[in-house]
Amino acid sequence: MADAPALDFQAIPHPAPVPGETRRQAIADPGFGTVFTDHMVVLDYDEAKGGWHSARLGPREAIALDPAAAVLHYAQEIFEGLKAYRHDDGSLALFRPEQNARRFNASARRMAMPELPEELFIESIRQLMAVDRDWMPDAEGGSLYLRPFMFASEAFLGVRPAKQYKFVLICSPVGAYFKGGAKAVKIWVSSDYVRAAPGGTGAAKTGGNYAASLVPQAQGIANGCDQVVFLDAVEKKWIEELGGMNLFFVMDDGSVVTPPLTGTILPGITRDSLIHLLREEGLDVREEPYSIDQWESDATSGRLVETLACGTAAVVTPVGRVVGEDRDFTIGSGSAGQITTKLRERLVGIQRGTVADPADWVM
Ligand code: COI
Repeated sequence: MADAPALDFQAIPHPAPVPGETRRQAIADPGFGTVFTDHMVVLDYDEAKGGWHSARLGPREAIALDPAAAVLHYAQEIFEGLKAYRHDDGSLALFRPEQNARRFNASARRMAMPELPEELFIESIRQLMAVDRDWMPDAEGGSLYLRPFMFASEAFLGVRPAKQYKFVLICSPVGAYFKGGAKAVKIWVSSDYVRAAPGGTGAAKTGGNYAASLVPQAQGIANGCDQVVFLDAVEKKWIEELGGMNLFFVMDDGSVVTPPLTGTILPGITRDSLIHLLREEGLDVREEPYSIDQWESDATSGRLVETLACGTAAVVTPVGRVVGEDRDFTIGSGSAGQITTKLRERLVGIQRGTVADPADWVM
């Protein structure tokens, strides 16, 4: 990323940084998304002032919002998720961050929000990592999860795109997303709810999509499952995604199927990376619709040998069992299969710098 940022970042000194010992305790076993570093980056956008301005790196603190701020009423909000990893030489590495910057802007366009120049997105991360790098968990599998987000801050109750926004970047030291780590998860098939319809916001990383998944997710948990799989909104037949993860289906002939990007599912960066890695290993990866009935009959006949879920937070997670109102089937042995395990190791190795980077993915 050679371009210089178009804005200078003002550094606001932290009045009371978290002491080393407290920090070490907080990151000993961080889980996912509950511990936060003590800085953040904020940029303001104002149409009347010519766009983005007032970039600053300062202490992590509450954000003052007018109660009429448009985001609180009409949910104009987008976010991203990416991780920083520590390499053996002590450097910090990001995995394909320019892809997150691009997807952030694709989400912004769908939500009628201003785009953020890619170099500002990346520079924000550099700024935050320069002061918060000591929050990296030591435990195996630990990383710094970066959460850039943007919301409409203008105080206005009419329904139209806001003219003022905030971009904020926070950071959370994390371990595994699922309590069981890389253990196989159990999936609930939602028949009452869908996540996104054609023409809707399914391909954008916007909070509303995740809010809509909470009731079906609670149903899944009530049925003893870890996650929900959503079917398409039109025929309630085709497998879409888990709400925060994409899916891959591995067949006994070595071919792999993943649902196509038709606008209703999130174009996952891990998804794209896995397609690349699988193809590089000579597997035939097809982006094509795959139905819930086919999934069940292929798992039952043994034609389907593995299913995996993937995402930044979940990395590569095996799916062991699928349960729905009128179905219950196990995939393979019900635990992580060979291709899933190999793929996870290769991806994690690339991200952590222990395996050759095949496509200049690591920054
Ligand atoms: C991610 O994998 O980064 C996600 O955004 C999924 C979830 C934690 C919301």
